[in-house]
Amino acid sequence: MSAVGGTRTPDTTQELDGLDAIIRRGGAGLRERMARTERHLERVTAEAGVPLASHANATVIPAGKRLRPLLVVLASESAGGPPDSGDGEERLVRAAVAVELVHSATLVHDDLIDGAQLRRGRPTVAAVAGRQVAVATGDLLFSRAFAELARNQDTAQLRALSEASSALAEGELLQREDAYAAHVAVERYLRRCELKTAALFEAACRLGALTAVEGSGELADALGVFARRIGLAFQMLDDVLDVSGPVERTGKSRGTDLLDGTVTLPFILAREREPELATFELAALAGPRQAEELCERIAATGALDEAREQALAVVADAKAALPAVLPEGRSQLLELVADAVVERYR
Ligand code: IPE
Ligand code: IPE
Ligand code: MG
Ligand code: MG
Repeated sequence: MSAVGGTRTPDTTQELDGLDAIIRRGGAGLRERMARTERHLERVTAEAGVPLASHANATVIPAGKRLRPLLVVLASESAGGPPDSGDGEERLVRAAVAVELVHSATLVHDDLIDGAQLRRGRPTVAAVAGRQVAVATGDLLFSRAFAELARNQDTAQLRALSEASSALAEGELLQREDAYAAHVAVERYLRRCELKTAALFEAACRLGALTAVEGSGELADALGVFARRIGLAFQMLDDVLDVSGPVERTGKSRGTDLLDGTVTLPFILAREREPELATFELAALAGPRQAEELCERIAATGALDEAREQALAVVADAKAALPAVLPEGRSQLLELVADAVVERYR
């Protein structure tokens, strides 16, 4: 069960426990803000009209972990929280909703581009309804995200979200450019992770800070650096999970990345340990069975442990970027979020 409501799929329970515990620890205010975010998300997707509403709803409501909205709220609380007067609380919730909607939009498009069959343990929009519907559903979620944020009438907030969205698109393009390139350099892989994932994490914290009373300057920068690093580690670990599986745990088929030609850190490290892999013809992988065999081969080199270690070092860097003292124990809660990113992969 989740502290923020919604119908969860059993495969992600372990991950959710970590974040739910953080929300419980954060007190009634944090719980209420996350619950309001959830209700607001439901409203926004339901308003889209038939038939898109059903796909948008099916994507957003079988809830993911809500990690990015949690970062928005914690960053805001770290910077003194929203002002008591006026619509401060609504502005914070809109920012949290906008970030989750951009995330959901990218997932719908990402699954189409990646040819993924499963998301959060369920068939993807592309698998259920086809390409055109998936494109339109993703577009709708993007546009709803910006419509929500526009209601805050703050160009700095809009800029933060739009920069992250552009980075996401650039990251997806980079991934396509490098598709099936078994020799892709590690620096290029890391750049892709920064664009695809870390940028939106950073935007989440920046947006949170921007809705708060003391949300500018050094503190916002420090929160941005923290978020960027955990975003990077999160993607590195997600890429480990794609190779390690199993599907019951991840809600996604094992080897999906390899099958669509996406070379990630485990393959890059394995290729150094087993040079034959450097000339492996990824384009010749015929289907999930062969992808699974390649996953086994990568795992046998010890590359998964090394990739995990590297990601853990990035998480440690993230924690080091946090100011030691923030209001109401928020530094500890943010550290726990960083730990939860790692816990997911133990
Ligand atoms: C999945 O993100 C996409 C990546 C950046 C790896 P999440 O794992 O946060 O997705 P949900 O929202 O919890 O399903
Ligand atoms: C992250 O990349 C997706 C986005 C940031 C859009 P992945 O392709 O690795 O994400 P999953 O594995 O499909 O969740
Ligand atoms: Mg994908
Ligand atoms: Mg992945």
